[in-house]
Amino acid sequence: MEHHVGRVLISRDRINDRVAELGQKLSEDLAAALRAEGDDTLDHPDRVVMVPVLTGAIVFVADLVRHMPLKMSLRLVSVSSYPGQSKKSKGASLRGALPNDLEGRHVVVVDDILDSGQTLALVQEAIMEQNPASLRFCVLLDKQVEKTVDMKAEYTGFEIPDEFVVGYGLDYDGFYRNLPDIMVLAEDHR
Ligand code: IMP
Ligand code: MG
Repeated sequence: MEHHVGRVLISRDRINDRVAELGQKLSEDLAAALRAEGDDTLDHPDRVVMVPVLTGAIVFVADLVRHMPLKMSLRLVSVSSYPGQSKKSKGASLRGALPNDLEGRHVVVVDDILDSGQTLALVQEAIMEQNPASLRFCVLLDKQVEKTVDMKAEYTGFEIPDEFVVGYGLDYDGFYRNLPDIMVLAEDHR
């Protein structure tokens, strides 16, 4: 049984391959950072924290961390885009508590998509206040639009054109997050 709501932009197979690559690269870079501190075990104490941005990042982070064979913990952050957000977020605000124990840790913020950059800029500010040992951003998608703030992710799965996509965690009005492929939603499904 499949949903037919639009056309496939990035297939589940391509996603799987790319997520594995991202997990491997992230692990190598984090391991190198830990080694530089004199820790050459993969079972180091609580030094690496993954911070997925709810809700869009849940599918991505679940796959990503299973390609990262190092000791880590997860802390969730919740960000809401301002109303009328379905097409494009007009702004973003933090919702609920932010993890407050990031000082001295290697933090990786994970999100589904970098669009205007507002969401990640907000999270960046809140995390940098805590003096982490390092802060990295990992996004599955980077939409090729002009950013309203200067935001880049060190790790990006795919660059995509300026189209509204759903699936693999991305939603339209809360739906379609469960689609296994990334799809461009057809007009008659909006
Ligand atoms: P930004 O704050 O403009 O960078 O937008 C980031 C957030 O907007 C993402 O975390 C998504 O929740 C949402 N978003 C942006 N573009 C899309 C899209 O094409 N499909 C679904 N959600 C999107
Ligand atoms: Mg989101």
